[in-house]
Amino acid sequence: MLGASRWAQPAAAPQQTSPSAAMRLTAWTLRRPFQKTSPCPVTHDGNHTYARANLVHASSSGGSSSSSNAQTGLSPTAGRNLSGASAGPASRPAGLILPPGFRSAPMIATAAATSTEIVASAAYSSAPEASPPAGYRGHGLDGPIIWLGNQRVHSLSERGRDVMRSMSNWAAKELPRYLKSAERSWQPADLLPDSASPDFYDQVSALRAASANLPNDYLVVLVGDMVTEEALPSYMNMLNTLDETRDETGASDTPWAHWTRHWTAEENRHGDVLNKYLYLSGRVDMHSVESTIQRLIGRGLDPKLENNPYLCFVYTSFQERATRISHGNTARLAQYHGDVPLAKLTGLIASDEARHEAAYTAIVAEIFERDPDGAMLAFADMMRKGIVMPAHFVDDDWHTQANGKGTNLFVDYAAVADAIGVYTTNDYANIVDHLVKRWDIGNVKVVTGEAAEAQAFLIKHSERIRRLADLQMERRMRDRKRGKGRTAAFSWIFKREVALG
Ligand SMILES: [Fe+2]
Ligand SMILES: [Fe+2]
Repeated sequence: MLGASRWAQPAAAPQQTSPSAAMRLTAWTLRRPFQKTSPCPVTHDGNHTYARANLVHASSSGGSSSSSNAQTGLSPTAGRNLSGASAGPASRPAGLILPPGFRSAPMIATAAATSTEIVASAAYSSAPEASPPAGYRGHGLDGPIIWLGNQRVHSLSERGRDVMRSMSNWAAKELPRYLKSAERSWQPADLLPDSASPDFYDQVSALRAASANLPNDYLVVLVGDMVTEEALPSYMNMLNTLDETRDETGASDTPWAHWTRHWTAEENRHGDVLNKYLYLSGRVDMHSVESTIQRLIGRGLDPKLENNPYLCFVYTSFQERATRISHGNTARLAQYHGDVPLAKLTGLIASDEARHEAAYTAIVAEIFERDPDGAMLAFADMMRKGIVMPAHFVDDDWHTQANGKGTNLFVDYAAVADAIGVYTTNDYANIVDHLVKRWDIGNVKVVTGEAAEAQAFLIKHSERIRRLADLQMERRMRDRKRGKGRTAAFSWIFKREVALG
């Protein structure tokens, strides 16, 4: 996930270093396992024109209230696509600003009561050029556009809320089948030396011997993957921001809350087992790794989900497949480097990710059934924004200082993952293709012009990424030929250097 580009930059946490665009694409399949591939700067197509809407400009007693969307005169959905997720209001007026006629939603009142700066930039009903058929009730994404600071929030419309509520019985019936109980699950202790055993030290020695030949670049990627898994509190937090599906109490008796808690419980084993394995291996600087995890959880993540389950479940569908691919390739490489226990462990993680991917893609497929236009727009919106890797805010407060201005730990970690074939830009394109096929995008019947346009965009999207991947590869080969290949030192491996491409 590296490179420079017009790909939308992360909106939030301005004090944090944003990874460059290509970083967000770098991936997780082993298309060319032992071949060097390069990270790819991917740009999105920002030239789509969307239907003009009967836009109601924001106005307030507090002065200037025009947001970027209001200035363009486009519908909220158009603004979503044209401005990208990261673009907040050009100038942020103080206080709560709502367009005339804007309904007072409870979440707005709550936010206002806490003096949080919110701007609702446009009315929530978009007007596509071609009038939808009589009886069309709108889609899940044409909710109000509300800004919290420079982050868009609560974009799920009333129609979208109805859709998610209507899926409650479906979720209760379908989602549990994708979960495994604690009794049926492997646990980290099953895969690591038994600390209660008299031959514990011998088992640890065997683990260390098996890991002895893992190369530095592989270790960087394994640490990056582990750190990503260890930031699980952020992901549970993310799921619990979602309108209609969040766990309201921490122990809610709803199918969505049940799913979130049990998914988290399964995921918790991933970071746990990788962390313990790396600790016992003695191959990495655990203090540096642990402080990186602490920083990352403190920073959170910003995949631009707008508290919207449509967007989030597209994101998690993509990410679960990406992690499945990444851990699967990590397993193959572990085997190649002679570490069979690590290959088994990462392979088991990959199989968990595959189940989770199946669940999230089933949720989105069901949204497509109930709200084809909304689901189509959500998928396109996430593709236009670019899928950020969950650890995109990772930092160790050393990397940039040691490797020079402009370098970024996340970008460099993703470059190494790409270079050793754990997750490449082509993997990203493959995931797009897979999801287009999984949700049968070409045959979905949509009714609005904007959804039809999103559909056309999605069908061609992977081609754009592959073209960029090819350009990236050419550049990498050229740089190598000229002896300009970059390296970076990583604190995680005792400040040793590895090649980035
Ligand atoms: Fe995981
Ligand atoms: Fe996962």
